[in-house]
Amino acid sequence: MAGTILITGPTSGLGKALAKALAPDNQLILVGRNLEKMQNLAGNAGKIIAITCDLSDLDDVFRAAREIQPYSIDVFISNAGILGFEKCRKNSHDLEQTFMINYLSHYILQTAALETLFRNEGLIINIVSMSYRWYSLDFDDFQSVRKYSPMKSYSRSKRMLLLLGEWLAGQGLKTCSVDPGIFASGISRSRGKIFNRMYDLGKGLMKTPARTAREVTSLLDSRLEGIPAGALLSKGKVIDYIHQREEIGKLIETTISLCGVDVEKRIQQIKSGQA
Ligand SMILES: NC(=O)c1ccc[n+]([C@@H]2O[C@H](COP(=O)([O-])OP(=O)(O)OC[C@H]3O[C@@H](n4cnc5c(N)ncnc54)[C@H](OP(=O)(O)O)[C@@H]3O)[C@@H](O)[C@H]2O)c1
Repeated sequence: MAGTILITGPTSGLGKALAKALAPDNQLILVGRNLEKMQNLAGNAGKIIAITCDLSDLDDVFRAAREIQPYSIDVFISNAGILGFEKCRKNSHDLEQTFMINYLSHYILQTAALETLFRNEGLIINIVSMSYRWYSLDFDDFQSVRKYSPMKSYSRSKRMLLLLGEWLAGQGLKTCSVDPGIFASGISRSRGKIFNRMYDLGKGLMKTPARTAREVTSLLDSRLEGIPAGALLSKGKVIDYIHQREEIGKLIETTISLCGVDVEKRIQQIKSGQA
């Protein structure tokens, strides 16, 4: 496809492979925390806009959201993610970082891009993980800080992104979530030495980020034709996922009250032409 594609986390693993694959034919908006690495990617093609943002930092995410708002965007790929830290880490706003990076930052950035996505009949692709099944959401412990475990935090943050995609699909946007399967990348970086050593041992058996990126770009080429709105895809197939309808409503409501960014109100404004 040819258009303007925003990718979060374009400096390693899948995001980098996607940026390389998509740069020749598309205008890219890259959102990452390392400007130099993003500029090096720009060396491969001229049509790259780099927006620096530490997705763990709420103020930085608000700034980046203001920066992306004026751009016309056709595809928003929520790719950046971490596998959780060994110990619970919070930012200066008391927000747990896996939750912040994997979910909340994407909620805020996607909300900022909604007007253009509606106008362009654009797509949102959320990179999630089948680990979303391991934990349902706990609204009494929304950020999973009680009895913290990195995988609980990771699993729930991916579940939230998946459910956000389904909610936005219900509002009329073309969205889909993709479980990319296991591939060799830098994802183990946030974890301890033993985890990293084991990950490195297994890396040779994993598929490459470039192959994983091809699976995602083929979706873009088809513009999600034939894929139900808000679907979850794993190994290229739409799979049923289990959740309760109320879980989505409660997720949106709790997110709005936590960060003050009101996605429902924003959509109402866009639909009534007041945006
Ligand atoms: N690898 C797998 O087997 C696997 C399986 C299922 C799902 N996934 C999902 O695939 C996506 C891509 O992960 P990957 O495996 O390609 O991992 P990766 O190689 O570690 O890449 C992650 C990207 O996210 C960025 N990022 C992390 N923390 C950030 C922050 N605070 N601010 C801004 N950017 C930040 C990284 O930036 P830096 O370069 O600056 O660190 C990097 O560009 C993730 O959402 C992951 O959950 C991966």
